[in-house]
Amino acid sequence: MDNASYRFGEKLTLEITGESHGPFVRAVLSGLPAGFCPDQEELRSFMLRRASSGKTGATERHEDDVPEFTAGLRDGCTDGSPLVIRIANADVRTQDYDTLSRVPRPGHADLAAYRKYGFIPSGGGAFSGRMTAPLCAAGGIVIQLLRERGIGIFSHLFSVGEVFDIPYDPMAPTAENCPDFPAVSPRYAKLMKMEIESAMRAGDSVGGVIECAVRGLPAGLGGPLYEGVEGAIASAVFAVPAVKGIEFGSGFSSARMRGSANNDGYRIRDDEVAFESNCSGGILGGITTGMPLIFRTAVKPTPSIALPQHSVDLKRMEDTVLEVKGRHDTCIALRALPAIEASCALALYDMILKEET
Ligand SMILES: Cc1cc2nc3c(=O)[nH]c(=O)nc-3n(C[C@H](O)[C@H](O)[C@H](O)COP(=O)(O)O)c2cc1C
Repeated sequence: MDNASYRFGEKLTLEITGESHGPFVRAVLSGLPAGFCPDQEELRSFMLRRASSGKTGATERHEDDVPEFTAGLRDGCTDGSPLVIRIANADVRTQDYDTLSRVPRPGHADLAAYRKYGFIPSGGGAFSGRMTAPLCAAGGIVIQLLRERGIGIFSHLFSVGEVFDIPYDPMAPTAENCPDFPAVSPRYAKLMKMEIESAMRAGDSVGGVIECAVRGLPAGLGGPLYEGVEGAIASAVFAVPAVKGIEFGSGFSSARMRGSANNDGYRIRDDEVAFESNCSGGILGGITTGMPLIFRTAVKPTPSIALPQHSVDLKRMEDTVLEVKGRHDTCIALRALPAIEASCALALYDMILKEET
């Protein structure tokens, strides 16, 4: 597992290496055009949206997450070779994980890893949310490249537990979130924070749904069967730990609808074909329609919780009760928004490059 790397994409490829308690995590991004000069300030702000500092119920592990470019940039601009981004793992406390080397956390990857590799990786190893730091560094750059093409990606917390934000208008989603919380409505932002705080006080955790929108995508990207945009985005998004579901447009609720409600009618407006609605979420037949692309990602509650749970001691082969100590997020969805945007950007840019060659 130590030297493993995890790879996505065909024309634009991302390789992620490292693990939570190693010295660093790393991204290698290949297929970028030469001469692109990423805005480092913007990248830093993007990465801060993933960082724990100041977030309700987030882990107290402090990660500065300053991306260090060890190859691929010359005078601040891409030189056409693979971009290598290294992020140091700071503030690692392996002692928090002593018991966890033999007692798997229910809901985490510990037991699955033990069965596959014969040991439980410290701090979740490559299964840790830490792996989304290099993902966000790479994806943050691709988001900037997409913006040069007029394509914008943004997201908000659609729900936390049973608290729901105002959904995006699928015809014209706005990119405006509250200044201090990634929800559109200040009222629901407050209720979501209270929901996270309440789970934290109970020693528990809470799940959430992230709604993501892409504006400015040209019509005609993607294709049938395995060429579809949904499949490409889903494959990138499912790499984010704790993601358990994805739906596009009216998604699962379309299964409860009649065709007359779910079909998006057409009208001629200004000599163009216009959509009357956007239940399809901007994709039909795996191909972008030119309408905003809308998808929602379900993020499960954090597995590591302080409440007592049934587990087993794998050394002694006996039942035990586990109360997870250490520093853990209460609501992963709150930190995962940029990771979802980054994953979406990688999938779309890879598709764009494939269609251009
Ligand atoms: C940004 C982020 C932060 C996370 N933080 C934690 C955490 O503090 N504690 C925890 O148990 N899991 C955390 N996770 C989730 C686990 O990594 C994940 O649930 C685990 O690897 C099992 O994988 P699965 O849930 O995809 O099946 C985090 C995930 C992300 C994306």
